[in-house]
Parts: sequence; C-alpha cells; structure tokens
Amino acid sequence: MKVTIIGAGYVGLVTGTGLAGLGHTVVCVDTDPRRVGAIENGKAPFFEPGLDELLAKARASGKLSASTSLRDSLKDADVSIIAVGTPSNDDGIDLKYIRAAAREIGEQLKSLGRFHVVTVKSTVVPMTTDTVVRQELEAASGLLAGRDFGLAMNPEFLREGCAVEDFTNPDRIVLGALDARSHEILAQMYAGFSCPMLKTTPRNAEMIKYTSNALLAALISFSNEIAQVCETIPGLDESVVMEGVHLDRRWWVDTGQGNRKHPGAVTYLRAGVGFGGSCFPKDVKAIFEFAQAQGAAMPLLESVLTINEERANRIVAILERQVGSLNGKRIAVLGLAFKPDTDDVRESPGMKIAADLARRGARVVTHDPIVTAEIATANLGPGVTHEASATAAVAGADAAIIATSWDEYKRLDWTAIARSMRNAVILDGRQVIKPVDLPAGAKVLTIGKHVGEART
Ligand code: NAD
Ligand code: UGA
Repeated sequence: MKVTIIGAGYVGLVTGTGLAGLGHTVVCVDTDPRRVGAIENGKAPFFEPGLDELLAKARASGKLSASTSLRDSLKDADVSIIAVGTPSNDDGIDLKYIRAAAREIGEQLKSLGRFHVVTVKSTVVPMTTDTVVRQELEAASGLLAGRDFGLAMNPEFLREGCAVEDFTNPDRIVLGALDARSHEILAQMYAGFSCPMLKTTPRNAEMIKYTSNALLAALISFSNEIAQVCETIPGLDESVVMEGVHLDRRWWVDTGQGNRKHPGAVTYLRAGVGFGGSCFPKDVKAIFEFAQAQGAAMPLLESVLTINEERANRIVAILERQVGSLNGKRIAVLGLAFKPDTDDVRESPGMKIAADLARRGARVVTHDPIVTAEIATANLGPGVTHEASATAAVAGADAAIIATSWDEYKRLDWTAIARSMRNAVILDGRQVIKPVDLPAGAKVLTIGKHVGEART
C-alpha cells in the first residue's frame, strides 16, 4: 500500500517508519526542510530509542522517503495520514496545522485518480474530523467525503521514550471511519497486528483518545494528591500505599489466555513532580474546554489540572522549608526531559522547577543525560548553568532535586554525591533513590513520605 504521512514529528515519523517496516511504501512530508533532510540521511531529527535503527532499515529497503512537497508525495497514494501538531490555545486546541494539511490534501484529491482515504491521526476534539477536516477537504477538492474519497480518524496511543515498541506491539488499533471502504482499507494497512481492532465512527475515535489521556492524567493527579496527604503524616509512604492498592485484581493484566497477571510494577499510580509532555497538559485542557463549550462541565478534570499545576510549586516550597531562603543558594536540578528516554522538554516539570528556583534567586545548575546545554539555555536563559554530568551538577550544591526518573540517577552513588554537596539535602521527586548510607547531616526527602521523616 502507498501511504503519505503529513507531519514527520514523534507520531508521524514513528508511524511512517513502522509502516515502511511492514512493507508499505511511505513518504513522510514535513514543512521543515531540516527534518526532511535528516530523515533522507537516515537520522531521526529527535531522540527516540530504537528509531535510528528502524529508520536506517526503512531507508535501506527503499520503502521510506521524505519530502517537503505534498503534491509529489500524494501521487498514487492509497492513504494519507495527518500527524501534524495540535497545540493549545485559549479555546482548547489550535487547528491551524490540521486545516492547512487538510486543505493541501484536498487540492490534490481530484488529480489522484483513485479512491484515497484521508486519515486524521493527530489528537483532535470530537467532531473535528467529520466537520472541520471534511469541510476543508470537500471545499478544496469539490468532491464528497464517503463517496469520492474516504475519511477516517485513527488515534495514536504511543508513548515517547518507547514509541517504537508501542508501534510494534500496540495494545489496540482504533479505526473511526465515515465509510465502510475506509474501514476496510485501513484494516488492510494494519493487517499483521494481532491486537484488538475497534471499528467505530470518527467522533467515538476522537473521544476514545481524549478519554484515555484524561484517565491516565487523572490517575497521576490522584496519586499526587494521596502523596500530599502522606507527606504530612508521620509513618505514611505513598509508594507502599499504592503497591497495596495495585494488588486489587481489577488492575491486573489480561494475559490473553484466560488468566490475569499482576503487572509487577505499580504503573500510573506513581506520585512525582507532576505530569508534563506535549500531550497530557494540552489534551486535558482541550477536552475540558471542549466540554465546557458544549455545556457539559468537567469539574473532576479541572482539579486534575490544578493539582498538576501546583505540584512544581509545592516541590519548591518543600525545599525552601528545608534549606531556608533560596536566594543565592546553589541548587541542582537533575532531569529536564518531561520523562526518561526522551529529549522532549515540552511542559517539563524539571524545566518549571528550574525556572521557579531561578526566579527566586537560586543559582540553578541543571543536568540531563540527553537534553543539551543549548536546549536548557533556550528554555531557562543564560543565568542557569548546565553540566554534562550529574556529579558535576550536584558538587558543592546546597540542595538537589530529582525531577526525571532516568535510570542513570538510580545507579548513581548517592552516598558519594551527598558527601560532595555543601549542604546535602536531596529532594527525590521521582522516588528513585534506594536506601543509602548517608553521611552525617545529609537528608533525602522522598515525594510521598512525611517530610519530617527524611532519611538522615
Ligand atoms: P510534532 O510537533 O513532533 O510534529 C509535528 C510535525 O508536523 C512537525 O515536524 C511540523 O513541522 C509538521 N507540520 C506542521 N504542519 C505541517 C504541514 N501542513 N505539512 C507538513 N508538515 C507539517 O508533533 P507530535 O508530537 O508528533 O504530535 C502530533 C499529533 O499527535 C498531536 O496532535 C499530538 O497530540 C498527537 N500525539 C502525540 C503523541 C506523542 O507522544 N508525541 C502521542 C499520541 C498522539
Ligand atoms: C502519554 C500516554 O501514555 C500515551 O498513551 C499517549 O499516546 C501520549 O501521552 C499522547 O497522547 O501523547 P507520554 O506523554 O509520552 O504518553 O508519556 P507518559 O509515560 O504517559 O508520561 C506522561 C507524564 O506523566 C510524564 O511527565 C511522566 O513523568 C508522568 N507520570 C507518568 C507520572 O508522574 N506518574 C506515572 O505513574 C506515570
């Protein structure tokens, strides 16, 4: 099958590379010539584990190419997949990239000379595909959706940091199509995956995506709220509480053989410094605004956002209570990526904490295993120093905060680190430090545990 992907970001490039690996002929189109150049050279334009290898294979097989020209790339294509950004604006989400992509596809539809399915993969609020996208396509082409061309919404559920694994081994494929032919063609495109495939309408598909992200975000804010209670009461430990909660069989994983298995690790009930990234904050806000505009209030989701927004402030307040005024203090922030195994800093809690500390006059020193000094400076300004190693960042510091649960931080010699600090207060915002022998006077404050019970 011939597939054109519009937007070669995390979703577009991973999908395109994955579909090429399945044997489809794929062209990734992007308006950014640097992205296109990198892909043509077999190099992913952002960090994503396993993507460079998959991309090199796809390029070598001749199944994947990249272009800035949508017109040339759409020639002979059976399916186009819109994977452009849908950033936040005051009303919820900004559809300008979606509209532009739909219009451009619409202008080419008439000359394709074959049935073509336009598929929206970007996260869009219900009714976007069958109203906004449909209208742009029909106006630009003079054709009718569902009769002359197919129209579908196929939400994406991948996670950054394990996007390749999520593409290869998806938990579900949701196909929301306007017409039966589009359902069929998309099911053929995904033939070979054994996961459940849900065929539905575009509106349901759009709502499934938002509901999934809203539920995950709600679980994280819920855990953070429980952590906040545990932090005030001696003897409570959120990680133990959630381990106990997770033993409830309803959380267990279906093995597909009539058995249900305990997932082993506590997932999505982990307290931390709040959720970040390009999706949860934006998507929860978008569905909240959308519902509000429809006259359906979502007070629960409003609280999910408020708890999350206040989380970074609370972390800084806990630190301030321990070390006193932050003005002039050297504070190390470990972890600028919004989660491990990515260099994405969009809405990153680590960045928010570092910026807040700098605003309060602290001498902030940052570290991240992948995020570069250039990205750190671009986000935080030249007043913040970025070190290439975690040990250099914490040496001589008055306190350190772990904001991202990188494996590297789990493996650090925290006893030695505490010795290297001027005043060894370590705020473990991601519950990564195992019990260690601390030098006299050193303290580890763990999120979700009574602050007065800091290990000394
Ligand atoms: P991104 O910002 O990484 O990439 C979007 C790309 O689209 C950019 O490279 C941009 O240059 C390109 N673009 C914009 N307009 C274009 C046009 N008219 N023609 C060609 N290219 C154009 O975005 P992303 O993180 O991949 O997210 C894309 C969508 O998928 C969003 O709606 C997001 O909410 C959703 N999503 C993202 C993830 C994720 O983990 N990042 C997961 C699931 C869903
Ligand atoms: C999330 C969803 O997990 C994907 O299914 C979805 O496709 C994607 O959003 C999207 O729509 O973009 P992602 O943002 O890549 O994926 O990462 P997550 O692993 O979900 O983490 C999001 C944030 O929540 C991170 O800041 C992470 O540190 C935080 N988090 C996650 C917690 O604080 N606690 C947890 O238990 C899990």
